Amino acid sequence: MKLKFDYNNMMDSAIGEHGIKKTEIDGAMKAHKAAFSEVIDNSGKGWQEWADTPLISAEEITKLNAFGKKIREKASSFVVLGIGGSALGPICVFNALLHLHHNELPEKMRKAPKIYVEDNVDPERMAALFDVIDIKTTYFNVITKSGETSETLSQFIILYNMLKKAVGEKAAKEHIFVTTTIGKGALYNVAKKEGFEIFEVPAGVGGRFSVLSNVGLVPFAVMGLDIESMLAGARAMRSACEREDIYANPALMTAFLQVKSMQAGKNISVMMPYADGLKTMADFYCQIWAESLGKAVDKNNATVNCGQTPAKSLGVTDQHSQVQLYTEGPYDKVVTFIGVEKFGDTVDIPADEKADVGDFLKGHTMNELITAERKSTEFALTKAGRSNFTIMFPEVNTETVGELLMYFMYETAFAGAYLNIDTFNQPGVEEGKKATFAMIGRAGYEQKLAELNSIKKNDAYIIK
Ligand code: PA5
Repeated sequence: MKLKFDYNNMMDSAIGEHGIKKTEIDGAMKAHKAAFSEVIDNSGKGWQEWADTPLISAEEITKLNAFGKKIREKASSFVVLGIGGSALGPICVFNALLHLHHNELPEKMRKAPKIYVEDNVDPERMAALFDVIDIKTTYFNVITKSGETSETLSQFIILYNMLKKAVGEKAAKEHIFVTTTIGKGALYNVAKKEGFEIFEVPAGVGGRFSVLSNVGLVPFAVMGLDIESMLAGARAMRSACEREDIYANPALMTAFLQVKSMQAGKNISVMMPYADGLKTMADFYCQIWAESLGKAVDKNNATVNCGQTPAKSLGVTDQHSQVQLYTEGPYDKVVTFIGVEKFGDTVDIPADEKADVGDFLKGHTMNELITAERKSTEFALTKAGRSNFTIMFPEVNTETVGELLMYFMYETAFAGAYLNIDTFNQPGVEEGKKATFAMIGRAGYEQKLAELNSIKKNDAYIIK
């Protein structure tokens, strides 16, 4: 494992009365054993098939690479259509591992087509996409595990209609690739009927745990990323998370510290990477943490209404917007910093600049500055008694990104096990999905529509 996890500043030895005592960790060995067994003994089973996603064969990787190469050779743009777990993995890996202005690079400098991940049904955004892509040379990856999600299906209908008009019925089929559950769902059926290439999402891999399945790997292949190295990183993290000793297991330890903090009233978990490329890793984390741990009942059906609200923050940008609150506001947060030792570029602040300003900065690098600012924020929070810990990247590459993604999945699974909840369902989201079907007039949802229509708004509470 290349990542390092420093949880010193979660402990009372660093932050005093708001910290966790070593005796609390040592006194919970039974709970650690139970949480560990719950996840590790069920690894690869039921909804925990995600743990096996980095184990695909060399042959499958070769096939993915060949697919990626084929698309790179002919596509001006590659568009992912999906939402939630079917979009956030492709988004965060794209941002972490490709050039920060990839789509704006001149064609000669771009190693992959322009990449867009459309994860909303904002009509202006959809219309705007068609202003910047040439549909005749654009390829679309429609990703939906259930094959039933209204947002993704609406996007599919729009683009397939446009494609047929632009390139003809037969060619349009070659512009669409579908990633979905085999044998289930509306999208699978239409893909079979129309003859689109289909990539499988394994049945036991849920949306927010699917980044290392075809949901992520197909777009990563098109991006030209080294999939084998990413999966090797994920496997290294898997091995670290299979260590029974909590002091050696990063995901088990931080899951315990987060759950313990939450139970002590720290209901907000801030993810704060100090690297623009990792900004959307915080989005990935927010989804997996929120949707997995925000639950009404535990496994014994007792009401728990648990979960820590995730928040995203970017270092150093948000030092100038949110850090004041983190340092002096309520003691209700745990801040996770993500730092990078060696950035992909070094930018000097020239020593020979004559302008009579910022002499203390001259001769340093932006790399030194961002590192100093991360360490200073960590220092300020710790001094103020605020819980925080740091995940350090030696550098951001396919291997370390694979490690981080796998860590997020294990940390969430362990946290759910400590809380004794069903980490892998999302009944709250399903309710909203059904209400959308009803409002848009889908057959079979008449009762839900009647329920929605029975809700009367009180005009007295509407300000006009
Ligand atoms: O994590 C989840 O299960 C959800 O966020 C889903 O990914 C999201 O609702 C999209 O579902 P689907 O992939 O079935 O379209």
